[in-house]
Order: sequence, then structure tokens, then C-alpha cells
Amino acid sequence: PPPHPTDLVIFGGTGDLSMRKLLPSLYLLDRDGHLEERTRVVAASRNGLTDADLRDKADAAIRGHNAVQVVEPEVMRRFLGRLSHVNIDVGGDPTGWADLADALTPGHDRVFYLAVPPMISGALCRGLRDADLVTPESRVVMEKPLGRDLASSQEINDEVGAVFDESRIYRIDHYLGKETVQNLLVLRFANVLLEPLWNSRWIDHVQITVAETVGVGGRRGYYETSGAMRDMVQNHLLQLLCLTAMEPPSAYDRDAVRDEKLKVLRALRPLTGESVAEHTVRGRYTSGTVRGEEVLGYLDEAGGPAVSDTETFVALKAEVANWRWSGVPFYLRTGKRMSHARSEIVVRFKDVPHTIFPGAASLPGAGALVIRLQPDEGIHLTMPAKVPGAGTLRLRPVPLELSFADTFATRSPEAYERLLRDVLAGDPTLFIRRDEVEAAWNWVDPIIRAWDELGPAPEPYPAGGPGPEGARRLVGSTGRTWHEEE
Ligand code: BG6
Repeated sequence: PPPHPTDLVIFGGTGDLSMRKLLPSLYLLDRDGHLEERTRVVAASRNGLTDADLRDKADAAIRGHNAVQVVEPEVMRRFLGRLSHVNIDVGGDPTGWADLADALTPGHDRVFYLAVPPMISGALCRGLRDADLVTPESRVVMEKPLGRDLASSQEINDEVGAVFDESRIYRIDHYLGKETVQNLLVLRFANVLLEPLWNSRWIDHVQITVAETVGVGGRRGYYETSGAMRDMVQNHLLQLLCLTAMEPPSAYDRDAVRDEKLKVLRALRPLTGESVAEHTVRGRYTSGTVRGEEVLGYLDEAGGPAVSDTETFVALKAEVANWRWSGVPFYLRTGKRMSHARSEIVVRFKDVPHTIFPGAASLPGAGALVIRLQPDEGIHLTMPAKVPGAGTLRLRPVPLELSFADTFATRSPEAYERLLRDVLAGDPTLFIRRDEVEAAWNWVDPIIRAWDELGPAPEPYPAGGPGPEGARRLVGSTGRTWHEEE
């Protein structure tokens, strides 16, 4: 359907997420003709900016964004013209709600984007309701963190749910907005090649890695309350696991896709007590050199205590306990300050049942499907090939490669462009439903509890390296290796 005129209100509209992601993505949507002419963006914050201040700030943020490249003055003028600022202090001076009401246009759809700490989500929603700003069509977008455990997540969901119906709540996991992540579904379900092999009979194990070179930077305060498990595993990595492991949905729609993901989360074998020690590894970076730059260790980063148990790296072995996946380990791994920034899903197929070529059975890396999310988005399949030569028969794994950049001349949109467009169009398929987020916490909570109760403390690893030794042992005890070591 054609986009409907919408008033998009961003709470936390002058903050980091808004400037770094939301406004540049909205600019790109506008440039590409995806914003209805009358659509308006209202940034709500408590820092008293004028509309002109906000536009200056947005202008600079958009120009500084690497996906924008060349700014078209006409588009910039049009986009900045859509922006206005309203001062709202939740719990403070109530006149802000009346100002917000004045900034909204009768007849427009309303989208309220909560780019604020989750503790104030409930109060904001109540403020909207009390000021009579919530129409039956209004939608609300929630950003992470969606709680810090099951109980706090339920509390936030209850508070927001008291004002908005579940079908109107859009919980963002920006990984679902990434092109390659959506491509994973196409790869699995738009051809017949892989699905017959996509099970424990033919797959040895799956690896999901999200490695970053960045540290926690200026986010130490937030990170100290979170750690890699809550910041990355509970959301992004488990979502990738769901898309890899789920059964074929009957349709590409909001309920069918999310129902299948939910079944995967519910089938995860619980890790508790002793099995946590055996199947999980935590790490924390110390100082080191990342891509030629000397960097501080986590405990020396500003904004947090010098003693802390917060992890910046997690590796774990999960199992989806159902008929399809029984006995197939899903190794998940994520860390900051690693040697390379690389996110990928690796599906490692089993060795052939009977070898006729000497050396073929132990050909490391042959028979792997690699779905690369970033950088260099692409898919490749490594197959064994004969090394040319008339001497002894020798085999080597070679890749069959698909590079998105080389294959498609079009730009891959930013994750937030895709997700904002879906919110404006009212399509929640790529957003997280309440039952999913709670099922994910339900699995993660006992792991965090066991860490808190039993330790051990995170294992130090030097910045710029491959992560803690424990991660290698986690896969290595079975003779397997992480993908880049092959
Ligand atoms: C965010 C985390 O959700 O995802 C960050 O809070 C992390 O800590 C980021 O750096 C990674 O996202 P991307 O898109 O850069 O892989």
C-alpha cells in the first residue's frame, strides 16, 4: 500500500541513536521516495532545542553518515522541513504533552518511537494515554534493552501493553533489518537445494559469530549493567539462531514467521548449574593493539568501576532439542575488541560416510556454507576440489562465492531504513513479539544466574586477538575448530 501520512515522534529524538541511525535512515528513505509528502518527524527530548537547533544537529549527523555519501540539497531541505522539536520531561513540567498534541496532525497515523532507557517507557506510554494522544491506529516502537531479565522484561511489556495492543508494539532487533539476515530466509526457503540437508543427518554443527573490533567506548555505564550476554546474545545471536534453525513457515507474514522462531527458542535445551560451566565461556578484553591502534582494557575504560564482573565476550554451545536438530551443537560467539570485525553463520556439513580419496575425510573446511553478514555481505560454499597436477591426487577446499556487492549494483539499505519503512507501513514481521523476547530471557536467565553464583570470572583476553582460550577449548574438545582457524 502507498505510505500513509504519518507523524513519527521520536522520544530521545536528539540522542545518540536518533542522530547516528534514525534520522540518517529517514533521510535516505525520503531521498528514495518512501516518505509520504505530509509525513512529519517530531523529536521529543528534555534539552530545550529550538526547531532550528534540531535541524542543524540533524543536518550535521546526516552529512556525517557513511551511507549518505552525497547530500542532495533539495532532499535535505525537504527532509529538514519535516522536523520539529518538542520539549518533554517525563515526570517534570506537564506542558510538554500539550505542545506535543499541537505538533500532531489530525488524520495522520501516529508512530511513537521510544529511543529512551526502558525504565521510562512505561511512564511515557502513560503520558501519551493521559494526554489522549494514542489513536487506535497508533504504533509504538521499542528499542533495546528490552529488560535485563525475564521479570524486568515482563514488567516493561506489561506497562507498554497497558496502553498499546500487542499488534501495535514494534520491538526492534536491528539484526533483523540487515539484508543478509533476510536473505538467509530466501536462501533456505526459496529453493530446494538446502532444505533436504538442513538437519542433524547431514549437518555436523553450526557456528554463529559476531566479532567486533570496537570496544565499549563511551557506553561503559550502560555496558556495565548489560555485558555481552544481554547486549548481543539474548537478542541478536538468538535471532540468528532462530532463522537458521526454524521450520519453514507457511507464509512470509507476521504470525507464521514469528511462531516458528518462537518454537526454536522454546526448544533450546536449558543450560543450568554445572552445564553452564561446561558449555559457556565468558571473557573480558585487556589492553592490546587493534588494527595498529593501542587500546585500553575494559576495566580502564572511563565511566565504570575498576573492578567488575561484566563480560565483553561470550561463547557457548546451545542445542535445539527437537527432531530436526537433536545432537547438533549451535556454537554462538560474540566479542568486542577482537582482531577482525566479522559476523557470519557457518553451517558445517558432515564428512562423507565413506572416503575414496585419501585425505578427503579430514579436509578441514570442506563442506561448509558461510553466510557472511558483514563486512562483504555474501554467501559462500566451500567444496573440495582436486588440486591440478598429474602427481599424487591432492584435494583442497575451494569456495563457490556469491558477493552481494558484485552481483547487485544497488546499494544495500541500512538495517534501520528497512525497519523504519516497515513500521511506517505497519508490517511487524521483522519485529520481536512479546512471547519471543520472554522465551529468550527464559533461556538466558539461568546462565547469567549460574555465572553470578558460581563464577568463574570472565577470562581475560588481549584486545586485537582471537578471544579467550576457553572459546577454543569449547569447540576443540570435539576436534572442531572455529571457522577462521581452519
Ligand atoms: C548493538 C549493541 O545492539 O549492536 C552494540 O548494543 C553492538 O554493543 C551493536 O556494537 C552491533 O551492531 P552492528 O550492526 O554494528 O553489528
